Amino acid sequence: MAERNPSLMGQKKSMFCLFSITSIMLFVLSWLFVLRSTGHPYFIDHKLLPNHKLFASFDSNPSITSNPVILKEQVEEPQENNLVKCNRNNAILKVFMYDLPPEFHFELLDWKREGKGVWPDIRTKIPVYPGGLNLQHSIEYWLTLDLLLSEFNHPTRARSAIRVHNSSEADVIFVPFFSSLCYNRYSRLKPHQKRSINKLLQEKLVKFLTAQVEWKRSGGRDHIVLAHHPNSLLDARMKLWPATFILSDFGRYPPNIANVDKDVIAPYKHVIKSFVNDSSDFGSRPILLFFQGAIYRKDGGFVRQELFYLLKDEKDVHFSFGSVQRDGIHKATQGMHSSKFCLNIAGDTPSSNRLFDAIASHCVPVIISDEIELPFEDVLDYSQFCIFVRSSDAIKEKFLINLIRSIGREKWTQMWAKLKEVEHFFQFQYPSKEGDAVQMIWQAVARKVPAIRMKIHKSRRFSHYNVVEDRGPILVKLPNNFAE
Ligand SMILES: *[C@@H]1O[C@H](CO)[C@@H](O)[C@H](O)[C@H]1NC(C)=O
Ligand SMILES: *[C@@H]1O[C@H](CO)[C@@H](O)[C@H](O)[C@H]1NC(C)=O
Repeated sequence: MAERNPSLMGQKKSMFCLFSITSIMLFVLSWLFVLRSTGHPYFIDHKLLPNHKLFASFDSNPSITSNPVILKEQVEEPQENNLVKCNRNNAILKVFMYDLPPEFHFELLDWKREGKGVWPDIRTKIPVYPGGLNLQHSIEYWLTLDLLLSEFNHPTRARSAIRVHNSSEADVIFVPFFSSLCYNRYSRLKPHQKRSINKLLQEKLVKFLTAQVEWKRSGGRDHIVLAHHPNSLLDARMKLWPATFILSDFGRYPPNIANVDKDVIAPYKHVIKSFVNDSSDFGSRPILLFFQGAIYRKDGGFVRQELFYLLKDEKDVHFSFGSVQRDGIHKATQGMHSSKFCLNIAGDTPSSNRLFDAIASHCVPVIISDEIELPFEDVLDYSQFCIFVRSSDAIKEKFLINLIRSIGREKWTQMWAKLKEVEHFFQFQYPSKEGDAVQMIWQAVARKVPAIRMKIHKSRRFSHYNVVEDRGPILVKLPNNFAE
């Protein structure tokens, strides 16, 4: 019946046409893909790295009053009241840092203040960060140390950011609360406590911030707040959301509180040792695919279990559950240094330090995490040194293992070489050096400055006749659709 129906026949013909057009297009596309995958040297877009010329060229001129806005076509500054900020050739981020009481930062590291100063004298001794897994979220520590050091003429320190003491001259306002450390050490209730120190400090912080002229001036929009541990700042994030957060991912944030447009994703500090003088090659790394991690059954974590069953009988695949604890670090280091590919599967959050461990090991990351956001992805093309696989594909029988086995010596070696090229972008150290993680984070913040400034300017449009009301300490409204 249907065969004789003329309109259906026509439909079939046009579908056939569509089909052939599609196959031609696929052919062309696959050609483009081949061309693209052989060339394309510009995986780091240096044109987009605003400060690339400035890494080493800071002339310690104390009268610097310009700002790091990257735009070339800037109007000359007509007067001194900040109407138009302009770029006088040096794109260094100017950061005002609150002198928060030490209980918010170095006292959490058991540092004891001497005299009235709120900051340690870093010329004599640097407070030590507790080791182990705490370190993976220590971003707050490295950034704060870098700002403190920016006041001294350190010969090797790179300068993407400097501390300024006049907040009117700053591009951003930095909030030096070590929220991840605070969560790790002080979120558990002690017997006599009604509320944890972690909660109390967050409350104090919100009270402090919202009372500052800097916060009121911008509604908090130019503030930089760190919350790298997914559970850190759990309470305060709801009140500080106009600020730019520095996070590991957005897994535990409603999109109106944090998102990739407003906020900055920072790498974890890897816990695996860097592979110094790596002279390994495709043949000398015996393990094809390596995974070690905890097992999760909730959220996105089911993929881990599925993959375990799919891969457990494959030879040259190492798949084990269990977190990387003390002596585990040594074993995991050995494992990743001896593997060609390292799996990075979403757990109870989209990101984990495993990716950065893999990069430090020059073990090509295989990323199975649909919601992951990656550090510096606006200037870095991860597809040049990572394999991405959708979760829905990864759990198909044989899909993943066939894909990995299809990547030969030449392609793998290219990716391995890229890993060696980018690894220093993910390296936290003190003093910070050119192009390391600390500098990359400051630059990522600098790239947010034009958008921040635009938001602030827009918020001032009606300032001439709006009655300025005292709205109390909390100036920001919670988003309507937020549910705790
Ligand atoms: C801070 O900077 C602003 C703008 O440059 C300037 O008007 C003001 O006088 C400065 N304040 C101090 C205390 O130097
Ligand atoms: C790496 O190689 C350099 C130069 O050959 C050498 O000085 C250094 O000690 C090596 N480092 C390690 C950890 O092997």
